[in-house]
Amino acid sequence: MHNYAMTTAMFDPEIYAKRRAALLNRMQRGIAIFPAAAEVVRNGDAHYAYRFDSNLYYLSGFTEPETVLVLVAGQEDNSAPRTILFCREKNPEREIWDGHRFGPDAAREQFGFDAAYPIAQLDEKLIELMGNQPVLFHPLGASADWDARLIRLRAAVREKSRSGLRAPDEIHDVRRLLNEMRLFKDEHELNIVRRAAAISTAAHERAMRFTRAGQFEYQVEAELLHEFCRHGARDPAYTSIVAGGANACTLHYVGNDARLKDGDLLLIDAGCEFAGYASDITRTYPVNGKFSAAQKDVYEIVLTAQAAAISRASPGHHWNAPHEAALRVLAQGFIDLKLCHGTVDGVLESGSYKQFYMHRTGHWLGMDVHDVGDYKIAEDWRALQPGMVLTVEPGCYIRPADNVPLALWNIGIRIEDDVVITAQGNEVLTDAAPKTVAAIEEVMRHE
Ligand code: GLY
Ligand code: MN
Ligand code: MN
Repeated sequence: MHNYAMTTAMFDPEIYAKRRAALLNRMQRGIAIFPAAAEVVRNGDAHYAYRFDSNLYYLSGFTEPETVLVLVAGQEDNSAPRTILFCREKNPEREIWDGHRFGPDAAREQFGFDAAYPIAQLDEKLIELMGNQPVLFHPLGASADWDARLIRLRAAVREKSRSGLRAPDEIHDVRRLLNEMRLFKDEHELNIVRRAAAISTAAHERAMRFTRAGQFEYQVEAELLHEFCRHGARDPAYTSIVAGGANACTLHYVGNDARLKDGDLLLIDAGCEFAGYASDITRTYPVNGKFSAAQKDVYEIVLTAQAAAISRASPGHHWNAPHEAALRVLAQGFIDLKLCHGTVDGVLESGSYKQFYMHRTGHWLGMDVHDVGDYKIAEDWRALQPGMVLTVEPGCYIRPADNVPLALWNIGIRIEDDVVITAQGNEVLTDAAPKTVAAIEEVMRHE
């Protein structure tokens, strides 16, 4: 079993212990239960690569499947276990086949839980632990199986009411508390995100240098994956989009099996996951290394929109400010290109720009590529604050249509960077991936 936390120098159990303590503090009372992600069969005896549950990892650093973390709040008495891990037992025979398992004793010692038990004892112990707790916290709805199991266990506690045990009266979605913690990245997390971003930046540059007309999209994808993997990022954070020509106008194109044509653009949206954290970069560049006049016109508009958005990704602005800034630049650009008509305000109000720009300008980024965290507080867009990490990714997708000048048909462009909000403004983690017309043409100039 690959375990980032234990096989890298980055593992420090204190980091995770502090997060558990912070969540316990937010809970104030009750019991929280975090199950591991399920192992998923791909076909036959083959499994998809195991990906741990982000919440469980955030609170433990523990990456084995068949694990449950339990936190019990409201017990100030230090003798009472407040953080309890259930995990697989040591099993010398299974370990010959599947590799190392910590087992409860080593897990408790090395990861710093108050107690650890074999996963087989989960139901029996949970009935005890839930007893007399007023609130049950859980990622509600994340797994129908777990929802049903916890309701069953709560009923089992109720059965014991004659022996004086009370079942939790309330069930809360623990993500209300935890997402808010995950939204603000600590220095440890920011260093990992920076590393993920740097690896993906190198991968995009590698792809640019490699690209030639006549190659297949998957050959460029292979260069990206090679660069990710050789730096220890074994998996992409999401399925890479390598979209030549018209394929770029399909937003989630992942076929990646067409031949690249001279004169077309290539849109690549790809980012690695490193030590559990995602990066997410998009670059769009000419297959032959030189932008045509029409491609350049559209590209410069998207690039200007991105710069406007990034300039508003800072404290003092709210979540939607970068999107609004990008939209104004795009709307003016679409008018200049005769894709839209009228005034900027008119285009924004009518929504006519949506024919060419139909997604938002970013999302939170973290352990999940579309990371957790609310975008509004009550009715208002939330203020951007230091420690938040987001993407800035405007685009323009021009499908053939009667109202579109022929020279622009099938041009699809997106430019996406990863941005940390800092006290002074922001830090763009992925700036080094070539992005101006001049920088791209320079990198792609082949001997
Ligand atoms: N690659 C997913 C996204 O850009 O949102
Ligand atoms: Mn994105
Ligand atoms: Mn992306």
